[in-house]
Order: sequence, then C-alpha cells, then structure tokens
Amino acid sequence: MGLGSAKEMLEKAAAGGYAVGQFNINNLEWTKAILQTAQAANSPVILGVSEGAGKYMCGFKTVAVMVKAMIEEMNITVPVALHLDHGTFEGAVKCIKAGFSSIMFDGSHYPIEENIAKTTALKNACDVLGLSLEAEVGAIGGEEDGVIGGGELADPAECKQVADLGVTMLAAGIGNIHGVYPANWKGLNFEVLSAIHEAVGGKPLVLHGGTGIPDDMVKKAISLGVAKINVNTECQLSFQQATRAYIEAGKDQTGKGFDPRKLLAPGTQAICDKVLEKMQLFGSVGKA
Ligand code: 13P
Repeated sequence: MGLGSAKEMLEKAAAGGYAVGQFNINNLEWTKAILQTAQAANSPVILGVSEGAGKYMCGFKTVAVMVKAMIEEMNITVPVALHLDHGTFEGAVKCIKAGFSSIMFDGSHYPIEENIAKTTALKNACDVLGLSLEAEVGAIGGEEDGVIGGGELADPAECKQVADLGVTMLAAGIGNIHGVYPANWKGLNFEVLSAIHEAVGGKPLVLHGGTGIPDDMVKKAISLGVAKINVNTECQLSFQQATRAYIEAGKDQTGKGFDPRKLLAPGTQAICDKVLEKMQLFGSVGKA
C-alpha cells in the first residue's frame, strides 16, 4: 500500500475504537525506525514533519523523496501517511507541491473566520489531489517549533464549524500540552472532549502532546473519538537516553575507529521500542 492519505486509516480507527500514532521524524534513522516498527507490528502509521524538521532535512521535497524511496526499498506494505505537522498556510502549500500525502494547517491562532477561510482554501486543494487535511481549533499548550500555545480549551461550536468544512480530522485543545507535562497539570478535559465528539458527529479527532499522558487517559480519549495521537518528545527522550548511556559506558571508544552508524544504533533501537509501546497502547497493532 505504502504512502497515501490518512483518511481511510483514520476512519477505520474511529470506527474500530483505536488510534493511529503520528510519530515525528528528524532524519533518515528516525524514519527508518518508525517504518520498520510499523511494518513489523502490521500497523498503519503517520510520519509527522514539523516546519523546523523539514528545514533541517533540506526542505520538504527532500523529505518526500526520501520517504517514498524508503517505503519502496524497505518493502513497506502497511499504510503510511507523510504529514505536515502544525503547518502555516505557506508551509502547507509547499508540502502539497512537494508530494506530502497529508497536511495539517494550524490556524488556531487566527480569529475563527480567518481560520475557516484558510482551512477551506487548503481543503479544496487537498480534495482535488486526494490528500488528507487536519485542521486545528483551540491552541495546544506548550511549545512547538518556537510557537507557544496557551493550552486553550476548544469551543465545541467552533469545532463543528471547522469539521463541517469537510476536513479529514480535527485537532482540538482539551488541556493537552506539547512536551513534558508539568507536575501541576490538570489532565485532559473529558467534558470538553465529549462535547466536541458529539458536536463533530464522529469526525476523527487528533490528540496532540501525546508524551506522558497516563495510559488510562489515552484509552478514555480514544473511546471519545480520538483516532490519531501525536508523539514526539517521548521518542526524543528515548533517543537521548540510549545514546548517552552508550557514550557514558565508553562503547564508542573501542579504539577501532569511529563509526557513526554504531553510535546511532542504540538511540534508533530505543525509538523502535518506544513506537511499538505506543502502537500497543493505541491499539493499532495488527490493524494495517
Ligand atoms: P509531544 O512532543 O508532547 O509528544 O507532542 C507531539 C505533537 O503533538 C506534535 O504535533
């Protein structure tokens, strides 16, 4: 199956009571780890690319070509979507041109009318090209690529307005925060999530800030219409810890020369383990 829109995988997830993970990529190793794990777990997967990560990887075109080639060379047959994460309008246009299969336009910081106008324009383009589109209402807290969100709770009526535009999926602020949750975090607001779920009539919902949300809250969110869950920080932390342990144990100092592939191997394996753990929690294993 390979690269495609996220529409079918999310509609199946919403109907089946599980969620598909979006894992953010930063380079070839992360991409390889996530694709390899999805294939082994027979799970659909979404590769998220922030604008910052896209820039780091030499532009969206490079990312799209790399991911397409990897899917072919690695014989990946599970459904994979290549998705712009928290895109600006301009970034979304670039990713559409570069060959991404899925786009997130984050218009949550605009007044709702402007968010709707810009989302509508992108929705029309995505429809023509068969791409999936994620819209956002109510900013997600924490920091994402330098943008600080205030942890707003989305307004269910506004969520309905945006869902009714015909977007594929909707990210709505329900107290979730990017990055590590502070000790005094109040948790997800299930009252607001239930009201949104009801208002949008079964439209797949997206939970950002998947790092560190307790398992029972994740499962409850899935039961209330969340069909896509984004995880980034937890993979970064796992990579960092495994790499540090390898260096601190002096394993990079074998006296036989420096091999970057060996240095990256423990961190890459840690990403595989983390991604599998999340796929098991989200219930997407075996659902490809
Ligand atoms: P975390 O970094 O908190 O896992 O959130 C990821 C995310 O929501 C990407 O959009």
